[in-house]
Amino acid sequence: MARELKNSAALFERACHRIPAGVNSNTRARKPHPIYFKRAAGPHVWDVDGNRYIDVTMGNGAILLGHGDPGVQDAVAKALESGLTNGLEWERAAEVADLFLKCVPTMDLVRFTNTGTEAVLHALHLARHATGRARVAKVEGCYHGWSDEMFVSVWADLAKAGSPGHMTPLPGMPGLARELVDAVLVMPFNDIERSTALIERHAGDLAAVILEPVMINMGFIEPARDYLQALRDACTKHGVVLIFDELLTGFNLAPGGAQEVYGVTPDLATYGKALANGYPIAALAGSEDLMRMTEPGKGPAFVGTFNGHVISLAAASAALPVLGTGSVQKTVGARTKRLAEGFGRIAEGLGVPAKILGGGSHFHWYFTDHEVRDYRSAATTNAAAYGAFASSLFDQGVVHLPNPLSHHAISLAHDDGVLDALENAFRVGLEAALVTAAE
Ligand SMILES: Cc1ncc(COP(=O)(O)O)c(C=O)c1O
Repeated sequence: MARELKNSAALFERACHRIPAGVNSNTRARKPHPIYFKRAAGPHVWDVDGNRYIDVTMGNGAILLGHGDPGVQDAVAKALESGLTNGLEWERAAEVADLFLKCVPTMDLVRFTNTGTEAVLHALHLARHATGRARVAKVEGCYHGWSDEMFVSVWADLAKAGSPGHMTPLPGMPGLARELVDAVLVMPFNDIERSTALIERHAGDLAAVILEPVMINMGFIEPARDYLQALRDACTKHGVVLIFDELLTGFNLAPGGAQEVYGVTPDLATYGKALANGYPIAALAGSEDLMRMTEPGKGPAFVGTFNGHVISLAAASAALPVLGTGSVQKTVGARTKRLAEGFGRIAEGLGVPAKILGGGSHFHWYFTDHEVRDYRSAATTNAAAYGAFASSLFDQGVVHLPNPLSHHAISLAHDDGVLDALENAFRVGLEAALVTAAE
């Protein structure tokens, strides 16, 4: 059933004269027009036409405790009363750093910045400074923000991407510095032999290897047994800085993120998202010897007008003690599992080759028979079937991302009733996908 969206249509009419595409992040653009929202609570959001949706985008995976978590909102409200915002160091910054490192005991020191893109840039500068080397290796399909070197081989065109043994670094958009893109080394996720061979081959000039330890930006692709450890060993052997981008895995899969789950410790790691339940913050953490190099006069700059922002740190000060107990992750993980099993049963019953892969609060639907173990196998997902499924979900009041290779999330506020409603929506959506597949 189509929803009434006339107020969103009118807002788009107005916004697109002032804001390109009418939205401030291209991922929010939609045909025929974006949806504009005015309220959120728990698992739900309301648009300007009064439609209520179950949200399975949850701030691109940032809002683990649910929209408007009372503890977080309270801490923010108290911080607002102080009148302080940014530019001066907040009295409670060290307390938040303590809470952070209690969750992630594998890291020695932490510094707070604003976005994941920035945190990753800091990590790369630091790796270059520490090693005196220039090049960076990344994994095909991993997303680390939109900087020149990192928006490379993300949603790569496989016709141009080369063979698994010799992947071509492909710019993810026009406007990137071509010489930086061309210098990036690209390796396949979950391929120990090819990844370690690449590290070995380029060791003399390789500053860093960076990856999402679970490739969540392409849905939810777990590292194969020993893959992370093999990267760890190769980086240690060749003096390369290993960076885990834990923007999505951090605090979400477990209090200590992927490092805790898989038992592998990188030299540096980047965080954000769940850390402040949707308030803008990111962090760079790492070993003491590396992190001390960001001190004044010792290495690359660590500066920023909004770094350690009072409001975001206040949100983190309330979120971290809750995340630190580990019970949120257990509850949410069990609910994600329930969703995956329910979806799997319905898909099987209908004969649709589709599955949910997920962990922590994160999940994604793949419309494929293939085992999904890297970007290339994830890309076998049937985009038309996903499109039919996703548009049916939207009509049923589930707000999601239209890209067939993206990721979704629930939260602590997605209770059994919400999961029942989602399962019903999945059934109708899968029937729509079945019709598309038959056409
Ligand atoms: C793993 C990962 N790294 C980096 C980023 C970039 O973070 P931001 O959007 O805060 O710049 C994201 C954002 O989705 C991400 O998922």
